[in-house]
Amino acid sequence: MCGIIGVSGVRDAPEVIVEALRRLEYRGYDSAGMAIYQDGSFKRVREATGTHSVELLAKHVKDFQGSESVSGVGHNRWATHGKPSQENAHPQFDCSGRVAVVHNGIVENFAELKDELLSQGHLFTSDTDTEVIAHLLEVALGGTDRIDDALAEVFSKLRGAMAIVAMETSRPTLLACVRRTSPLIIATNGDEGFIASDIPAILGRAKHYYQIDDAVVASVELGEVRAFKLDHTEVEPREFVVTWDLTRAARDGYDDFMSKEIMEQPQAIRDTLAGRLQHWDTSGIQLDELRVEVEKLQRVNKIFMIGCGTSYHACMAARYAIESLCKIPVELDVASEFRYREPRLDEQTLVIAVSQSGETLDTIAALAEASSSGAVSLVVSNVVDSSMARMADSVIYTHAGPEVCVASTKTYLAQIVALELFAIYFAKLKGTSTTAELRSLASALEELAEKVGQLTNRFAEMVGVASKVENFERFYFIGRNVGFPVALEGALKLKELSYLPAEGFPAGELKHGPIAMLDASSVVVAIATRGRLWEKVMANLQEVKARGAKVLLVASEGDNETIAEGDAAFVVPETHPLLSPVLDTIPLQILAYHLARYRGFDVDRPRNLAKTVTVE
Ligand code: G6P
Repeated sequence: MCGIIGVSGVRDAPEVIVEALRRLEYRGYDSAGMAIYQDGSFKRVREATGTHSVELLAKHVKDFQGSESVSGVGHNRWATHGKPSQENAHPQFDCSGRVAVVHNGIVENFAELKDELLSQGHLFTSDTDTEVIAHLLEVALGGTDRIDDALAEVFSKLRGAMAIVAMETSRPTLLACVRRTSPLIIATNGDEGFIASDIPAILGRAKHYYQIDDAVVASVELGEVRAFKLDHTEVEPREFVVTWDLTRAARDGYDDFMSKEIMEQPQAIRDTLAGRLQHWDTSGIQLDELRVEVEKLQRVNKIFMIGCGTSYHACMAARYAIESLCKIPVELDVASEFRYREPRLDEQTLVIAVSQSGETLDTIAALAEASSSGAVSLVVSNVVDSSMARMADSVIYTHAGPEVCVASTKTYLAQIVALELFAIYFAKLKGTSTTAELRSLASALEELAEKVGQLTNRFAEMVGVASKVENFERFYFIGRNVGFPVALEGALKLKELSYLPAEGFPAGELKHGPIAMLDASSVVVAIATRGRLWEKVMANLQEVKARGAKVLLVASEGDNETIAEGDAAFVVPETHPLLSPVLDTIPLQILAYHLARYRGFDVDRPRNLAKTVTVE
């Protein structure tokens, strides 16, 4: 992971870098640092104080006053090689302090490179793989001042997925970067140049944004962008349009990004559906990108859905819609496992990769494997032109806007919506469902944002329900059918944010083992809305109650019969059964939010996690 920022010719570079690092904290926050060029050398400050590293770094901005500071690099770290410490924080320097490097990802062959550099007499001050890059650049630069040429030479020696930004003191306005799989963008505004891991870092400062392809060295010097391949053939930097605005990436008066993003869920759904449902029954639903012939999609006879973390749960929740409407076998895989089990893929297989960031390395690797086997691919991503979006044969974007809180909320709901839109698209293409069946789901989708809004408006009321279990320390989530992924997502949210032991099970599986753990000190959260298997969930609930566990329910509005079975209940509006995961998950987001805050934890930056994980 890690967040990268570089600026060239930008007045108040330290402030701009710190602000960018604040916005990139979702990528890692166990340490943070920056190096600014001043009076002939780099002045570097680094902090390694866990979730408050950037906050402390900001206090150093005043240290830079008095001299011109227009160029520099900054970094948020999520430790891989070497523990979080000041020495291991980036930027990393070469022996003389001439080169400054910030890096995201892993240099897989760093040990052998380091041995070689040590034998040549280089002095290392950190345990990071990154420092190897700085020393290699020192050698490659020799007497020249072209850090971009040196980076091209060094990059071909490095193995692994990574993004690098480097600069050096004899030409400090020239910033060079290169990437393999890990994200990086270049941007300009007049005479100002920027390089960043992600758009929100420079939103509001930059005007023109440029995509950097894999293994292309790009540089920005003041407002000039240049790019070339490793064999030094020049390439035209590809500009792209950014429609996000600053207010959507700022906290906007909320206590934290998580509550803001929960409240933005109705809009995220509206924006994801916008313009897509009007003509579903005549001209059909348009995918954002379709780079294969429709006939190829029509021939698909098996689907794999892959993702990590919350995105995996979105796959699981939407699988029911795809299987039910498209009458096609759908297999689910956690992306990090998918390619290692030798899945049977061919040209009639569709692989759907789901990812908020579109940059998760496990999912990218699985997608690459699928594409090399000839399978057709579809990506659902929240980031336009993300690595995955560029790799896939077809793309549906979730228009949830930037999500900053590490734990996904609005993008999760938007992913389910996008996948259910795909279910309608594909069922229509293959003629596997009646118009009435599709119409029923399409109309429910049209009403969904309003129902989500009814729920988010009752945020405070749901915190009240959650407060009934704030002194419990063990949680089990159960659900059946579409309620099962809701149970898994509820448990994941609680683990991520409150660090409480929480597990999700299919309700019917409880009696086959997990029930042994139940007693009066445990809470069972049951997804008991009026779905197809409601009666069976109620039967499972009796087994739970007989063991004395505290019961918290997610129940349908007005369903007093169910509500009476629990110690407390979150009530949700009724919807189409295939969409109930969208509504049923919201109270569980709020449950996790409240319990984390009650225990005094930072909901936006849970310990040990990062939002975008670009290591395997
Ligand atoms: C990380 C985050 C999770 C997220 C997962 C997948 O592990 O901490 O919250 O669900 O990555 O991210 P993606 O960007 O691929 O959806």
